[in-house]
Amino acid sequence: MIVPGSTSQALAADLAAELGAELAAVEYDRFPDGEVFAAVPEFAADRAVVVASTTTSDAHVELLQLQDAVREAGAEEVVTVLPYMGYARQDEAFEAGHPVSARAVARAVATGTDRVLTVNPHEAAVCEFFGVPAEPVDAAGRLTEPLPPDLADPVFLAPDEGAVDIAATVRDAYGEGTTDYFEKTRLSGDEVEITPSDVDVAGRDVVVTDDIVATGSTMSESVGVLDDRAAGRVYVATVHAVLARDALTKLRRAGVEAVYATDTIERQVSAVSVAPALADAIEG
Ligand code: R5P
Repeated sequence: MIVPGSTSQALAADLAAELGAELAAVEYDRFPDGEVFAAVPEFAADRAVVVASTTTSDAHVELLQLQDAVREAGAEEVVTVLPYMGYARQDEAFEAGHPVSARAVARAVATGTDRVLTVNPHEAAVCEFFGVPAEPVDAAGRLTEPLPPDLADPVFLAPDEGAVDIAATVRDAYGEGTTDYFEKTRLSGDEVEITPSDVDVAGRDVVVTDDIVATGSTMSESVGVLDDRAAGRVYVATVHAVLARDALTKLRRAGVEAVYATDTIERQVSAVSVAPALADAIEG
């Protein structure tokens, strides 16, 4: 039985259809003091697949409640799918006295599950924090689906070296074009400095790919360079559309033709579903 968190209802339904599994009815509520409440009143199955992107602290708590509820209802196996794992980028103590937040939340999630799947975590090594079998699912190849079929001599560009694999995966799935990457220095939470490569983009269509668009600073700075160099059409393709604050506006103002993302975070720009990739991983 597929058990949706409130943040991942459409994806959970698609996953249930892919697997031919039943989609559980779930109650989401909130107490007068603000505490969240989630229940699965009619749960009846040996295996529960709880699907919940932990985009907020409340979503984290709700996931823990759903895991606990299905165990209470008799599930013998609990599989937890984190389409988007919140706090995953805080994967080390960056200064003395700082927490490893990704490890802290992973430990909490692990107590209620037998297995974890998470889509394109910022670093695959984050899976080691769970202490139960946990695996990354690569869904980047699906980002090629909404791209126009007539891209002109395309460049698949990563805004930093860490996203090169995603650029290469999208290029390979598209079937033509070159890959390249810029260098990024993060100055603050929402400020970055981009040092471009010498890639020639004049008149060429460019697809800028990354695992996450959060504030949109990384992308809009990169797109600014492309504009200066007279690139053709510029598209943004990202796995996780966090899109904090005015990120989408920043991208459109920078001249981006369209933003495409998966449904790990359900947004208006979620043009492709990771459900098939998750179904393969669950059954694989
Ligand atoms: C970090 O290196 C990630 O791959 C993304 O580049 C980053 O999270 C994007 O953040 P923002 O949109 O805030 O620049």
